[in-house]
Amino acid sequence: MPQRPPLRFPDGFLWGAATAAHQIEGNNVNNDWWAREHAAGTPVDEPSGDACDSYHRYREDIALLADVGLNTYRFSLEWSRIEPEPGFVSRANIDHYRRMVAACHESGLSPMVTLHHFTVPRWMAMQGGWRNPGAPDLFARFTESALPIVADGVEWVCTINEPNMVALSAGAEGTALTASALPAPDTLISEALVHAHRGSREVLGGIPAIKSGWTIATQAVEAEPGSEQVARDYRYPREDFFLEAARGDDFVGVQAYTRTIIGADGPRPIPDGTETTLTGWEYFPPALSIGVRNAWKLTNGAPILVTENGIATTDDARRIAYTHAALTDLHEAITEGVDIRGYLHWSALDNYEWGSYKPTFGIIAVDRSTFARTLKSSARWLGDIAKANAIAGQVP
Ligand code: BGC
Repeated sequence: MPQRPPLRFPDGFLWGAATAAHQIEGNNVNNDWWAREHAAGTPVDEPSGDACDSYHRYREDIALLADVGLNTYRFSLEWSRIEPEPGFVSRANIDHYRRMVAACHESGLSPMVTLHHFTVPRWMAMQGGWRNPGAPDLFARFTESALPIVADGVEWVCTINEPNMVALSAGAEGTALTASALPAPDTLISEALVHAHRGSREVLGGIPAIKSGWTIATQAVEAEPGSEQVARDYRYPREDFFLEAARGDDFVGVQAYTRTIIGADGPRPIPDGTETTLTGWEYFPPALSIGVRNAWKLTNGAPILVTENGIATTDDARRIAYTHAALTDLHEAITEGVDIRGYLHWSALDNYEWGSYKPTFGIIAVDRSTFARTLKSSARWLGDIAKANAIAGQVP
């Protein structure tokens, strides 16, 4: 087979991997998820426990990502550590996250910081969480508290991770936060999240070097012939509403894993014989470029960062194949003029997948009893792409 030339990405393209505090830090005992994991009769299969102990081992995680050649690390702040009681700010935890930012710089990685990735402090949950009319103000206050972490040397700040999943899962406690057939969103929460996002951006706007946006779970909604309107109605409150709310932001984060096929009665089950991943989702790499194109259209051309894309599998060759296909499509979108600034793989580590450690998304394996990290081939493969700023034209 003739060799196809490598596909080059724009200069300065961000190549990295992403994590979230509750999924890797361990012992986030003061947030709503921990409470849910340990509640009597919880539907959660297994608790997060020590997770990857990244609260202590973050330097090793950062060094591994830098060593393979990546240039960006996206991680999130744990609100319940920073503000363990309403209005009480832990300086030690502010310092902790400042050290993470510094460790990224020391290793030559750009830190990308998410302020809120699914978890809220217990006190916030007890006040009604995002249903509390005061929630957007509480989030603005938290953003102010977190400013010392991002004020110096953090260019990209994600305010709220997957607000659409937050709104959708509000009524489906304990179930998977990402799925291909999602419950109806709670519009009250959707609106509250938009206010919270805007208020947080306003606070961040005080620091001109920061670019802020939010990161949306795109779902590659596809209509069966004749079901186009059903598909539009399905997608609007679950995805498009949140993308439209990103108009005028410095960027929008696109997160994509799988697709949802809509028939006359809504989401269709995945047909027998279709390849699925450990989360039960269809193996469908084009989900990324579909999500990117929808985001580009609905935001009226906001710069795009792929803030998450990946696959839960024990077969690392499948992870590489999936990612290669997704990146090839992404390159095509760039060639067509879509302004894409970076690609951050989900996830850096095999981590706590909201209820279970079984779905392994990581490019780095973590031993569950010793916490020892082991690079997978996919980590080296993605690092080589980052160093070359190009992907091979051929499927690896
Ligand atoms: C979330 C991650 C999650 C991943 C895979 C996204 O919905 O942001 O926290 O682990 O998808 O389910």
